[in-house]
Amino acid sequence: MWFPLLLLVSIGAAVQSDSVEDVFKAHNVVPDVIPVAPNQLLKVTYNNGLVAENGVELTPTQVKDQPLVEWSADPNDFYTLVMTDPDAPSRADPKFREFKHWVLVNIAGNDVSTGEALAEYIGSGPPKDTGLHRYVFLLYKQPGKLQFDGARVSNRSRRNRPKFHVARFAEHHQLGNPVAGTFYQAQYDDYVPKLHQQLAEEN
Ligand SMILES: *[C@@H]1O[C@H](CO)[C@@H](O)[C@H](O)[C@H]1NC(C)=O
Repeated sequence: MWFPLLLLVSIGAAVQSDSVEDVFKAHNVVPDVIPVAPNQLLKVTYNNGLVAENGVELTPTQVKDQPLVEWSADPNDFYTLVMTDPDAPSRADPKFREFKHWVLVNIAGNDVSTGEALAEYIGSGPPKDTGLHRYVFLLYKQPGKLQFDGARVSNRSRRNRPKFHVARFAEHHQLGNPVAGTFYQAQYDDYVPKLHQQLAEEN
């Protein structure tokens, strides 16, 4: 009874984790965002049950609230989680590459609630007529608990969000290559003006 079921589950997991690298390369997340792809799929689930994986298209309305992010971790390790959009303001002309959506550091194991928010989560806000943007989630395993200087950015501010470079951030803090990742894509919908209004509430 149990054996065939377990076998199926493990085959499914192996196929999925092999594909992160392929999907990142097929959509140029490698090299546009990072030079080396992670080999583990990061599980990102929005509150409507939608899973952000394989570059699936989701709408700004569907991703407006912070998702559940899951991975297997040693509880003694610390992690950094980043969500970034390399296609700002558009994939065709990414002059503000990247737009920082979410940066959590010093996450104890996989307990996301323990993370310090350097930048609070904001969903997708791709401007009208700028096509599909890629929203990339990356998980880094830190060498230990780290000190991160600089101002924190709330979910009501754009400050320090444009022209972010996750690869440089990781290099600066000696985080190595990401251990897990995933991404989805989104284009404009009528939630976007609301998000832009929210981001103008603070400087
Ligand atoms: C913004 O972040 C605060 C926590 O700092 C949270 O309570 C609030 O729901 C967030 N707002 C939105 C619109 O996501």
